[in-house]
Amino acid sequence: NYYAILMAGGVGSRFWPVSTQDFPKQFHDMLGTGDTLIQKTFSRLSKLIPKENIFILTNERYNNLVFEQLPEVTQRQVVLEPAMRNTAPCILYASLKIQKENPNALMIVAPSDHWIEDEDAFTNNVEQAFEFCRTHDALMTLGIKPTFPNTGYGYIEYDKMAMSAIKLVNQFREKPDYETAKTFIEKGNFLWNAGIFIWSVTSVIDAFRNNQSDLFKLFESGITSYNTEKEAKFIAENYAKADNISVDYAIMEASKNVFVLPATFDWNDLGTWGSLYDKLSKDSSNNAVVNAKTLTENATGNMIRTQGKKLVVIDGLNDYIVVDKDEVLLIFPKSKEQDIKDTLKRVKDNF
Ligand code: GDD
Ligand code: MG
Repeated sequence: NYYAILMAGGVGSRFWPVSTQDFPKQFHDMLGTGDTLIQKTFSRLSKLIPKENIFILTNERYNNLVFEQLPEVTQRQVVLEPAMRNTAPCILYASLKIQKENPNALMIVAPSDHWIEDEDAFTNNVEQAFEFCRTHDALMTLGIKPTFPNTGYGYIEYDKMAMSAIKLVNQFREKPDYETAKTFIEKGNFLWNAGIFIWSVTSVIDAFRNNQSDLFKLFESGITSYNTEKEAKFIAENYAKADNISVDYAIMEASKNVFVLPATFDWNDLGTWGSLYDKLSKDSSNNAVVNAKTLTENATGNMIRTQGKKLVVIDGLNDYIVVDKDEVLLIFPKSKEQDIKDTLKRVKDNF
């Protein structure tokens, strides 16, 4: 009864120039381990879920990348989106498909681009969550102990008095502003949403039915003829009509049956070059180096990556991102890493 859906349709623009619209970060070996992020995620999930029940949700333009990198999957497992509509539409679409296959399915929904070191702890946590969802109508999330008022995450307020490992959530709040995030951190009974969800296919579909009735009606009417030409035609014609909304805003904020299990593993969502830097091992001058040889002097705290193991010679540069990819060389202060997204827009306008 176990299924996974692996979300792999994001663009990862803050990892430009390595991550691009044609070849986003989940299909790159960002950690320099020999595996791409999606391959790592697939293997992590296959310890919990039969391989043939791991579904990959992605934009149709990445279909070939998926098959190149995960040769063991079949087309049945690859759910293709003709338009980018964020995570809510694709999760509902995949859930309706899974329900047709197995109405008793228990599912994990996972991003394809996170770093999780302790895989045993991850497996353990997810098994615990599955166990809970087997007997409860619950939308489960894994929660991460927050360390600073990051405004890019969802926040989960849990019941302070709850003694159980799995706690009822009082409030789920997606991407609060900085001041709000600060008060959440000060209060203490808040966790970050890891973006990993566990639920039964029934509970998630009910949540969409109750909170996103337009989206629900749109998809329910069309996804009746499972894996047929008719379904494909329906998606081609209607998918783009779906609201562009993430699962966090679409169902998590509004639902009353949200539960959280505080994760016991180290987690990083590898959202920026700086977060990648934090997770990589460093050389003796505290530089993180992927795919390069380096000769550095008075240079520390840099994130360095080249294509083709180039020699990089740096003198007198600290806390920078130095990344070379095809015709682009990016030299950018780590402290401004969030701005790479906007810089990329300017680059596109000008070149
Ligand atoms: N298939 C598909 N289609 N996948 C998508 C799409 C889409 O249109 N858009 C995004 N994704 C994938 C991304 O590739 C990523 O793996 C995952 O869905 C989450 O999307 P992000 O865009 O990275 O979300 P976020 O980081 O802003 O926020 C989410 O993750 C945070 C933790 O990393 C939320 O769940 C937050 O609450 C959470 O804290
Ligand atoms: Mg993210």
